[in-house]
Formats: sequence, structure tokens, C-alpha cells
Amino acid sequence: MCGIFGYIGHRNASSLLVKGLLRLEYRGYDSSGVVVKNGQLQSYKDIGKISEMATSLPEFKGSMGIAHTRWATHGGVTKENAHPHLSNDGKVAIVHNGILQNSDALRKRLKRAGVQLNSETDSEVFCHYIAMALEEGKAPLEALQSVLSMTRGTWGVCVLFQEYDYVLCARNGSPLIIGRGKDEMFISSDPHAIREHTDQLVALEDGQIAKLDAHNFQVMQTDGKEVVSHLLQLEEEWGESELGEYPHFMLKEIHEQSQSLQHCISGRLRHAEGTSVLGGLQVQPQELAQLPHVRLIGCGTALHAAQIGQILIEQWARIPAVSHVASEFNANDPVINPKALHLAISQSGETADTLSAVKEIQRKGADVYGVVNVVGSSIARQCGKGVYIHSGPEQSVASTKAFTNMVGALALFALQLGRSRHLSKTKGKSIIREMRTLPEKIRAYLEQPGPIEQAVELVTKAKSVLFLGRGISSPVASEGALKLMEIAYIPCLAYPAGEMKHGPIALIEQDSPVVVIAPNDGVQERTLNAIHECKARGAKIILIHEEGDPISETADVSIPIPSTMPMLTPLLSVLPTQLIAYHAALALDNDVDRPRNLAKSVTVE
Ligand code: G6P
Repeated sequence: MCGIFGYIGHRNASSLLVKGLLRLEYRGYDSSGVVVKNGQLQSYKDIGKISEMATSLPEFKGSMGIAHTRWATHGGVTKENAHPHLSNDGKVAIVHNGILQNSDALRKRLKRAGVQLNSETDSEVFCHYIAMALEEGKAPLEALQSVLSMTRGTWGVCVLFQEYDYVLCARNGSPLIIGRGKDEMFISSDPHAIREHTDQLVALEDGQIAKLDAHNFQVMQTDGKEVVSHLLQLEEEWGESELGEYPHFMLKEIHEQSQSLQHCISGRLRHAEGTSVLGGLQVQPQELAQLPHVRLIGCGTALHAAQIGQILIEQWARIPAVSHVASEFNANDPVINPKALHLAISQSGETADTLSAVKEIQRKGADVYGVVNVVGSSIARQCGKGVYIHSGPEQSVASTKAFTNMVGALALFALQLGRSRHLSKTKGKSIIREMRTLPEKIRAYLEQPGPIEQAVELVTKAKSVLFLGRGISSPVASEGALKLMEIAYIPCLAYPAGEMKHGPIALIEQDSPVVVIAPNDGVQERTLNAIHECKARGAKIILIHEEGDPISETADVSIPIPSTMPMLTPLLSVLPTQLIAYHAALALDNDVDRPRNLAKSVTVE
């Protein structure tokens, strides 16, 4: 959600800034801009994609600058509201990620002081207050400190000055990473945009300010007290950030799922003992004996993975488990049992709602383990322990391979937990044997995905699409509906199959498409009732089922997937739903990788 990139060094800043923004584009892409210092502050911004802004960007000279790609919160998508924002004397430029809660009051005070405001944003206040403070004779650091003391909310903010050869930045709730190169410094909202330049990275913590020139950086608390910052130890991740032969990142990432699941499970399975080993997620026998319950927290796709994890933990470990929508978690002053196990699930590791739930749990005395993709991200650091899911870089806003690996990692954890309780070694071994076959089954399915085009034809003509599943397929239905809604903009409703008759059945008309996920898992027979109830009212059934299963006879569009053990079916049954969403979005001429209004990393609550 909004991306920031900065450069101070000896190379042309402008081109490095654009390259950095392109790497951060998944954080927001409604408008973007850069400001480069070359005597004066030269600034350019526009609405639309970064690549469009870059083609009309003047050739700025200068080796120091900051840049921003926006996901609008305060103020519409206009050129004026795009960042950077400059003070009216042209001496201060800022880029900001986050939300200032008291911006209305701050804007009013500026107006009363006769300052002309040039946008509708909350962010703009930063540059005017800093310029006023400089005018009063304050030094830049003091000026920034004075503004931060007035603001309430969240910020990752960078400030460039016409008259000073350094950049100041500050963090409170929105990530900022500093990268140190050879006689050059980088600033970015996330590590992966800097890693091609250097692996010497430092993450700012909340309440910190940094001062950077080409050779040095200094990190301090907001009050100016210097702090010792530690280099981030980042493991090398697998995977390419480039599109390669694929037309879209989403398709590339769908096809990477076989490989990415392999990365997630490899080295973590112990067949002889029928268990798994997750280094960062070891529960001690004493803790285990007293473990009252497990809580899993996430948003969007990560929430659906959490819902599957909940079922896996209950099934294999026989421990009560519950999943929570992160954005609702803090709303009701939740009771936290310090002996319980808490898992925060997140691809980006930056989702503000999830991060804030983690902090709430920790504040109330319990530990939280992260199940995260991006190494060194805020949630990973805040939890301090947990596992990485090793999906490699995921760039499409619609998440696919991260979902697979979240489910994969949670399955490993449920197995480990189960084996340290009552799950037999024989059962453990059979789970491991099956997990090992999954990467190949994913690959085989994606090679022959079935009649996806027929499903696409039905859903793209429909007013709305209903997704049904029961048991472990219910969260898969939710994930399928989310995907189609996110990128094809078709209203979708996901329901547990048995609950359908209590409401959604009213939506069914002649030819309404209903996507049913019905593996042969012991609850299928009751799902069949829902299929007949829909068909009796004229619905067209798009059925995702295991190959060779006679249930296919009830389908209007039958999509077979390879067979696996019931609890692992989500890793296969989700695949056709991803392909339906992808091809529906293409058929409707939508921007698959940059769906409207969404952002991949949502760093505001
Ligand atoms: C946004 C994205 C979703 C994602 C969710 C959680 O809403 O558009 O695709 O699932 O955030 O993201 P996280 O990075 O925490 O998994």
C-alpha cells in the first residue's frame, strides 16, 4: 500500500527511482512521481501506471531523490494528490505512506496561517510544516521532529531538502528499509526492491528517524537519541522477479506452484519418524501438554489459508483451533490466553491489520509465531519467531502460490503438532508420502487443466457467481470467490454448501453459475444435496472433483483434479479456481496483475 523508494549516491537518481518504483508497483499503482535534487528540487508526477509516468518523465540530472507509487486513501486519484508533495517555496519535498488521523486539524491550521494547500491529501501537511519550521530557523532534523510531534497516525515518510545534501526519513507503522551500497544509500518500503543493489539492509523500527547521505546513515529515536541498528540477516530466496515467457505475473505464479510447494516442504519432512520439522515453530513438550487452543489470524487469501490450517490442526492434532479476520481481531478486546498458540499468516508480512493483531496479542502476554513469505518483513520481525513459507517473490496482486505455501506450511505444522500428541507414526508417514506427491500432481493438473474456457464463458455472462464447498473445501470456495471478484470484478458469494439453503439459494435463476468444490472426502454426499437443490432451480454447476469420481455426472462443466487424501485436497482444488479467475479477467479485458482499487500489501488499518 503505497511504495517509497529513495536514492542518494553518485549515479543518475531518476532512472534508479523509476526502477525501484516498478519493483514496488504491487503496493499501489494509481499514480506515481519522483523528485530529484539538482540544485533545485525537480519534481514530476502523474496518474496511471508507473511505466506511463516514466515515459513522460523529463531527464532529470542529479544523484539524490525520492519517489512514490500511490494507493489512494485521503483524496481521489488526481495528479495533485500524487506524491511527491512540495512546499510552496520549493525547498522541501516529501513522500509518505500511511494515514494521518489528525490531518483535517493540521490542514485547517495551515490554512489559517495563510499556507496554500495544493492537494486533498493528509500527506501534504508534512512538507508545509517542515518548510515553516526551517523558515523559523530550525535545522532539518528539528523541523521533522516538530512535525512528528504534532501528527497522529502512521507514517513511512522521506524528506528531501533543496539546501541540504541528505535525506531524512521516519517510520511509525509503515515500513522503511535502508540499504547501504558503496558510496550510495537506498531507501525502500520493502527489502526486495533494494536487494539487487546491496544486501546490507537495516529496517527502521516504529518511532525511529534516519538521516542518510551517500556514505553514512544515522538512526535515532524521534527525540534524537541515537540507536544502534543491526543489519537484517536475509536468507537468499528462490525465484525470479521478472516475467520471463509469461504474459502476466499471475499466470507465472500459478505455474510456479509445483516448484514453490516443493521449496516449502523440502528439508522439512522426516519420513522415518512420520513427522515434519519446522525449525522456527517448535513447541516444547511442556507447552504442548498445557496448550489450550490455537488461534490463526490473517486477511484475504491468508485468512482462507488460516481457515484451512484451523481444520488441519483440529483433525491431525485434536487441539481446538480457530481462525480470525485480522481486522476484526482487536475490535472486541479479545481475551488472550498466554498459554495458547497464536499464528499470524501473511504473504507480505506488512499487512497493518495482521500486524496490529500481533501487537495486541503480545501486549496481552502471549507469543505469536509468523507464517510469512517476505523475509525480514515487519510481521516476521515483530513475531521474532515462526516459519517462512518460501513462495519466492509473488508480484501479482491476486495471491496464488503464497496461498499454496501457507497451506503447505500449516499442514507441516499440523503434522508436527499431531505427531507430538496422538497422531500415529503410520498416519504421519502416509501424510508425508502424499505431501511428497503433491508438487507433481500440481504440475500434472496445470498441464491439463480441463474445460476452464467453458467455466469462463458461464461466469463472465453472469450477474453473480456462487461458490460452494463443505468442510475443508469451504475455505477453498471462499478463496475461489475472492480471486474471481478481485480480478474479474464479478460479484461472488462463497458459502458453506449446507448453509446455501438458508439464503443464497434465493439468488439462483436459470443458468446461474455455481462453482462447487466437491472432492471425495467423506462429506461429499451431503454436498451433492446442495448440487441437486441448485440444479432444480436452473443453476449451471461448475464442478471441481477428483478424477474418475462418478459425481462428475451431476456437472454441467466437470473439472477433474488429481486424487489425494481429503485433508490435502485444497492444494489441488484451488488450482481450477485460480485459472477460472485469470481467464475470466482476461476475457473481460481487465488488468490481471493490477486490478482496480486493490493493492497487494495493505499497510493501513
Ligand atoms: C490484500 C491483498 C490480498 C492479500 C491480503 C493479505 O488485500 O490484495 O491478495 O491476501 O492483502 O495480504 P498478506 O500479505 O498479509 O498475505
